[in-house]
Amino acid sequence: MRIVTASIDNPLNKATQLCSDALRGVDACIRRELDSDVMMIPAIGNYIIDSGGKRLRPLLCILSARLFNYQGERHIPLSVVVEFLHTASLLHDDVVDSSDVRRGTPSANGVWGNQASVLVGDFLFSRSFEMMVTDGYMDVLSLLSKVSNTLAEGEVLQLVRTFHLEMTEAEYLEVVESKTAILFSAAAEIGARVSEQDEETIKRMAEYGMCLGVAFQLMDDVLDYAADAVDVGKPVGHDLEEGKITLPLIHAMAKNKQLHAIVEGVAERGGYAGNEREAVRDLVHQEGGIDRCLVAAQKYAERAKLALPEAADAGIRQLMAELADFSARRTH
Ligand code: IPE
Ligand code: IPE
Ligand code: MG
Ligand code: MG
Repeated sequence: MRIVTASIDNPLNKATQLCSDALRGVDACIRRELDSDVMMIPAIGNYIIDSGGKRLRPLLCILSARLFNYQGERHIPLSVVVEFLHTASLLHDDVVDSSDVRRGTPSANGVWGNQASVLVGDFLFSRSFEMMVTDGYMDVLSLLSKVSNTLAEGEVLQLVRTFHLEMTEAEYLEVVESKTAILFSAAAEIGARVSEQDEETIKRMAEYGMCLGVAFQLMDDVLDYAADAVDVGKPVGHDLEEGKITLPLIHAMAKNKQLHAIVEGVAERGGYAGNEREAVRDLVHQEGGIDRCLVAAQKYAERAKLALPEAADAGIRQLMAELADFSARRTH
């Protein structure tokens, strides 16, 4: 099954256009903050940044600031902090997942090796902390330091649950919230914080980002079984052999004993044999694993939209609602 979305009025493109000035500011800030006398740091940093990426987290931060008609500049470097935390996670993730393609080009670990990727990831984490301190507001520092801790915890939790065949939906969602959604939540929350909204509004923006982020990762896990690698710019069909028991598989395994048995074999061997990759993919589709996951993602998108506070700028609010839907239907 191929999931098709028209790209013409894709809200991600709309948001990118609408925020083009701020995004230019984000890119300039990224370049400045990647500067180091150790040439390997800007080399790898620029390589991964130049290879693209949707910049969805900075966009959420910028849109959230615009939603509340924020007139200052703090959201620009803070968007960069969020993107650095994301980029550092990707550098580490591709090492952990032994993944050799990212954003349609060879991943940094494929070009420079694992050691360089891990160490430059560490540089991005620590640079982002310097930037939070420069921003100088304790509430944001407290938020982002907790978030970076949770991101790391989420990755470790996922590792601990490698080939945990009895994974429940709740256990899966716990990993998803920690490794992915929490950063989306922070991005949306920051816009409300820099524009000094009340606690209730801040909470609602955090909830919006969290639900959008869960939908986003649910779709990432759907795409691993339903997309072409060329379309997503990274390998697909690898989650199971990496030991990731994701929701499409959880749903399908619950309905099909044969699939459960194949997955047990993959877990014992640590990889697929014969035509198992295709068999697993087919059974996940046949047993409705994809469809149920799409429904779950849309449910989170609805929750995200409901959380959006009534705010001054109705146009931005509408676009943020569309981005929640996009996250639950995306094809890349
Ligand atoms: C990839 O995130 C990692 C996940 C949380 C699934 P993105 O899909 O936002 O990655 P880029 O930045 O656009 O490449
Ligand atoms: C998300 O999980 C990774 C991070 C949040 C760093 P995945 O391992 O599924 O991400 P991709 O598919 O490699 O982008
Ligand atoms: Mg990965
Ligand atoms: Mg993935």
